[in-house]
Amino acid sequence: MIIESIHLTDFRNYRRLDLDVGPSVNIFYGFNAQGKTNIIEAVNVCSCLSSHRTSKDRDMISFGEKGFEIKIDLLDPEDNYKTDLSVSYLLEKTEKNPSSVPKRILKQDSLQISKVASYLGICNTVIFAPEDLNLIKGAPSVRRKFLNLIISKTSPSYFDLLNRYNRLIGQKNACLKSFRGGRPDDDKMDFWDYPLADISAEIILYRYRYSLLLSKYASKHHLNISGEKEDLKISYSTIQGSVELINAFLKENASLDSFIDGSAQKAIYVPIKAMLSEHLLSKFRATRQNDSERGITGTGIHKDDLDITLNGLPMKNFSSQGQQRSAALSLKLSELYMIREFCRTSPILLLDDVFSELDVNRRVSLISGMVNAQIFITCTEREYIEKELGSLVNGTSLPRYFHVENGNVTPE
Ligand SMILES: Nc1ncnc2c1ncn2[C@@H]1O[C@H](COP(=O)(O)OP(=O)(O)O)[C@@H](O)[C@H]1O
Ligand SMILES: [Mg+2]
Repeated sequence: MIIESIHLTDFRNYRRLDLDVGPSVNIFYGFNAQGKTNIIEAVNVCSCLSSHRTSKDRDMISFGEKGFEIKIDLLDPEDNYKTDLSVSYLLEKTEKNPSSVPKRILKQDSLQISKVASYLGICNTVIFAPEDLNLIKGAPSVRRKFLNLIISKTSPSYFDLLNRYNRLIGQKNACLKSFRGGRPDDDKMDFWDYPLADISAEIILYRYRYSLLLSKYASKHHLNISGEKEDLKISYSTIQGSVELINAFLKENASLDSFIDGSAQKAIYVPIKAMLSEHLLSKFRATRQNDSERGITGTGIHKDDLDITLNGLPMKNFSSQGQQRSAALSLKLSELYMIREFCRTSPILLLDDVFSELDVNRRVSLISGMVNAQIFITCTEREYIEKELGSLVNGTSLPRYFHVENGNVTPE
């Protein structure tokens, strides 16, 4: 899919924007704080419902307004199929509820889509931004979000699982609080813990498989970027004993490789999920008293993380700025290549202010991942980027330049 035009209403510093864009490289340049990143953010939100800058949708509403809308017109150049996607986010006040209740509406071709899983994956994007550094330095939630997004983009039904998990954990926590720190009622808690164990097992299987894949890809990219010097590894950290259990099962019944490439998926899925689910249930039961005292669930996949090591040492504690930048880029390139391989098409690339911070090796790696994709780039200096992208620009698809100033976008 490529984007033909972008339409914004009350999004950040755009009251209204209608912009036709080019099929290959689109460059947005201008001084700081003019609205360049806002455009890239809007495209990302409309395609995968996630902002790289905020987890609060309401932050993106133009100051003083009650909602925003982003619409993108899309074209599949292979078969000339056209479609459009839109996401609107409204703060509504009703008589019953005078404080604003947020409401998100997703549409394709003006028809409302109620399931997020049916919306995700129609148009995929991968964004590279300075915030990527948080993948290495930031809180576990950053890495969970990263992993969740890769899985959702390639297996949209995963998103439904996450939603169901979040609803259930909220209900379980409400139930926990009702015991006010006292002894929790086992039957009442089992009512929540059975389905939670089941869904958690499914999520863990997804996350484990994808983190193995991610590690494979990232290690390859990082070797390239570091001149074959550094060994980057990513391992999945979740509820104690789960990964060991899966590994033991795979050793007996299938190979790890067939688990990773998905070929053994159907045959092993049911028994492995049942075993894992039982293991999780016993963990949830063991922490009940503790959870009740704290009024919140302490053990669960909402605490998952990815452990990232470089030459065997945890990156968080033992890496330089440069190594962190390279590792973050390796992770993002892995996302790009995984989506390419799983979906068999190139996602749209969004590059927010990234070139100036990369050294030669990193720039070459990034640019080599950019061929044959529609690309949106923001930068402050037009000349710099023009030189940098020389290798990408071949007579057939000239880049388009847009000057951005105070929420006005002028195509050249
Ligand atoms: N919710 C909002 N409503 C209106 N303006 C906003 C909102 N959020 C950010 N802005 C404005 O957007 C501008 C920053 O846009 P951004 O795209 O990040 O700039 P840059 O061109 O540097 O990438 C700032 O002027 C900021 O005040
Ligand atoms: Mg910016």
